[in-house]
Amino acid sequence: MKILVTGGAGYIASHTNLELLNGGYDVVAVDNFINSNIESVKRVEKLTGKKISFYEVDLLDKEALREIFAKEKVDAVIHFAGLKAVGESVSMPLRYFKNNLSGTINLLEVMEEFDVKNLVFSSSATVYGDPATVPVTEEFPLSVTNPYGRTKLMIEEMLRDISNADKTWNIAILRYFNPIGAHESGDIGEDPNGIPNNLVPYIAKVASGALETIHVFGNDYDTPDGTGVRDYIHVVDLALGHIKAIEKLQKNPGLVTYNLGTGVGYSVMDIIENYEKACGKKLPYVIDPRRPGDIAETYADPTKAKEELGWIAVRGIDKMCEDTYRWQSKNPNGYKS
Ligand code: UD1
Repeated sequence: MKILVTGGAGYIASHTNLELLNGGYDVVAVDNFINSNIESVKRVEKLTGKKISFYEVDLLDKEALREIFAKEKVDAVIHFAGLKAVGESVSMPLRYFKNNLSGTINLLEVMEEFDVKNLVFSSSATVYGDPATVPVTEEFPLSVTNPYGRTKLMIEEMLRDISNADKTWNIAILRYFNPIGAHESGDIGEDPNGIPNNLVPYIAKVASGALETIHVFGNDYDTPDGTGVRDYIHVVDLALGHIKAIEKLQKNPGLVTYNLGTGVGYSVMDIIENYEKACGKKLPYVIDPRRPGDIAETYADPTKAKEELGWIAVRGIDKMCEDTYRWQSKNPNGYKS
């Protein structure tokens, strides 16, 4: 079976490519390198001893996309491609709408044209907004607070409309909680451009000496230690969730939606402590004001994915931190090392 992976050089995609290749799938990947590096593709090929059919293509280039579909005869698509920085999306909403929405519409149109109607879509727990209670099930009301989140929710809604109109589509919407960690080889991992926005990449840079001190965004939330609580999930567990979703699509389920999380919440301070254990030293931090738009607490109810996909996250927080540390130590400058 041949899978097209969009955003195929990115963080979650590279781990998914590796599991796809190890699982016997053929992988065709496209990426425009806005926020990624060809090195991740090369490393996955090296780790698996298998080839990825790679194209440097932007999803906004519909003709190029058509050529790939004509040539490669893919069976299903995993759609990761998209811009994902919340702050940037607030200041440049049009860029987000153009890239994420137009890119997805092009992809869906070309899929329809070539009668490839199996899709796994990379959504986010951000579509739950500030949930009234935790854990969060797939039935919770949806709302968003920024343009990035809006693109995820709008794409979800487009997919629900498409599925309602044409029952021959099979679509799995996967709502990720907070992906962290890296492959245990330490050869592929998260490589954000510039100063990281997300907690764990930031901690990793402080541990390696590239940044001075961790900024904890608020310690006055209504949580056990006052800092924000999230459901951190190992990226390899997340990648394996995509394999289960591809398997599910082969049973013609129509449109299905799953939370991919562990079901366990950790605070910012928990993460700092666990990372200190992984790297064997104390890490400096300061308490800053809350980051605008942040919520106190969210974590998944992952029961549906367990029951319907037979998927469960098995890698714990210690492994998430150890694997991040290994990746950061082996690649202090990410793929540019
Ligand atoms: C963020 C995005 C979310 C996106 C997800 C993708 C925001 C508001 N939300 O989630 O839409 O889907 O990334 O990975 O950006 N924190 C610090 N110091 C830091 C960074 C973060 O204390 O330097 C805290 C935050 O306040 C939060 C927790 O760490 O409590 C996790 O933050 P982060 O890693 O940025 O993820 P989210 O905000 O949950």
